[in-house]
Amino acid sequence: MQTQTVLSLNGLTKSFGTVSAVKDVSLDLKQGEVLALLGENGAGKTTLMNMLFGHYLPDQGSVEVSTVDDQMSPLPLGDPQAAITAGIGMVHQHFTLAENLTAFDNITLGAEPIFSFKRHKAKAEKKINDLMQKSGLVAPLDVPISALTVGERQRIEILKALYREARILVLDEPTAVLTPQEADTLFENIRSMTAAGLSVIFISHKLREVLAFSNRIIVLRHGEKVGELATKAADEGKITKLMVGTEASENKRSPAKPGAPVLTLESLCVACPSRRNSLKNVNLCVHASEIVGIAGISGNGQSTLAELVSGMTKPDSGKIILDGAEIEANEPRTMIEAGVGRIPEDRHKDGIIGHMSVAENLVLENCEDPAFQQRSILDWSAIRRRAEALCAQYDVRGPGIDAPAKLLSGGNIQKLILARVFESNPRLILANQPTRGLDMGAASSVAERLLSARENGAGVLLISEDLDELLSLSDRILVMRDGALTETASFERNAIGLLMAGDAA
Ligand SMILES: Nc1ncnc2c1ncn2[C@@H]1O[C@H](COP(=O)(O)OP(=O)(O)OP(=O)(O)O)[C@@H](O)[C@H]1O
Ligand SMILES: [Mg+2]
Repeated sequence: MQTQTVLSLNGLTKSFGTVSAVKDVSLDLKQGEVLALLGENGAGKTTLMNMLFGHYLPDQGSVEVSTVDDQMSPLPLGDPQAAITAGIGMVHQHFTLAENLTAFDNITLGAEPIFSFKRHKAKAEKKINDLMQKSGLVAPLDVPISALTVGERQRIEILKALYREARILVLDEPTAVLTPQEADTLFENIRSMTAAGLSVIFISHKLREVLAFSNRIIVLRHGEKVGELATKAADEGKITKLMVGTEASENKRSPAKPGAPVLTLESLCVACPSRRNSLKNVNLCVHASEIVGIAGISGNGQSTLAELVSGMTKPDSGKIILDGAEIEANEPRTMIEAGVGRIPEDRHKDGIIGHMSVAENLVLENCEDPAFQQRSILDWSAIRRRAEALCAQYDVRGPGIDAPAKLLSGGNIQKLILARVFESNPRLILANQPTRGLDMGAASSVAERLLSARENGAGVLLISEDLDELLSLSDRILVMRDGALTETASFERNAIGLLMAGDAA
């Protein structure tokens, strides 16, 4: 069945200024195939797919897509509408749904004429229900996107592409925001869709799922295609070597020597309108030189906990104590001044100011530092020197320190945030999904930095959906479920999984 070619990329090349993002990449996709696209952060994966989808105009190269009668025909480049018409659907690394519109409106928006819409509504509903049935991608349709979980939002993104009759589906890091269970379900759904003829390209940093669910693997490094192999013939070692040129190394860590409490939460309660995110009588203590992991399925209150500790939400009752002093007005600035370093979950929204330069983002929280001031005026040459040094030290790659931070790739944005946090020598590091979407090299450097911060006396509150990450880094683990925390004595995957699902009392 996997013989008919449905898509060919031929010699695609794209530079941004001096950054050569994609160099002469060619690939074919067969019908019903799942092709995994791998590579380090900044390797050019998203850029390549954006050229396919018409968001970027390639400097060189061409794309051919099969037509309904199985002929290959050239795709007009730089034209998203042409890509959609040709049957290409893309689900972006960062969701693009309109938050205040319903799921139904998001799916049909732009695909149906607005004026005669009422007449189309019943037909559209039937089409979506059929798609849900066939693909197994189920989500509520009549509520605003903002009320949906990340997993549901993603299903809506995919349904939106399928609604436009996509025959080729590109998923840019589809599981980066999903729990392991949601990811498994997604891949089951993908399987049933490919069995029905859909062809899929998916980008991922998670080798385990790539090995389990793809048919073929293509690896990019520094914009070039450096390897292509059948998944049957691949293993983690081989792929890692292709991606980074060396095999990954294990983190080494010493036993915990916890010091005095740095963060204490006493009987904290927060009632949220969406009950999902309320906190119910949360007690927690993070000591100096200790990493405390919070496990749990997303939407059980973790984001509220993170907002409290970063000063973005106020508790209804209870106390927050930092370094022995109770926090009165918890606002972001108070928390930063009290020594909290934040690695936020949504790095685009809460981590950077996109239109400001890389250098500006690096000093954002400490521009009052005398090192960056000269007679009360910002000393730009000192700031730029510092930014250059930090980018080198934290391996932030991209179009340079003067470029807007939003132009960095996902992984490089995270490295920028890490540089800012670790350089401020925080007492407490709030790390919320710190390695989500990061390649193995970048993820292990985050882990190393968290461990060395712990070594240097910081307390770390690590919120993560990645159990492997929690198990390898945490000194203690608490499970958050339905707004409440339970400490687990066991470091065993299954036991923690049961607490997460609420199956154990
Ligand atoms: N619009 C742009 N302007 C300037 N540089 C860009 C732009 N888009 C991407 N780049 C640069 O091109 C390179 C490739 O980026 P791309 O987003 O394709 O990487 P990626 O492989 O998807 O990485 P990640 O795994 O982190 O998502 C990076 O160095 C990035 O900074
Ligand atoms: Mg990307």
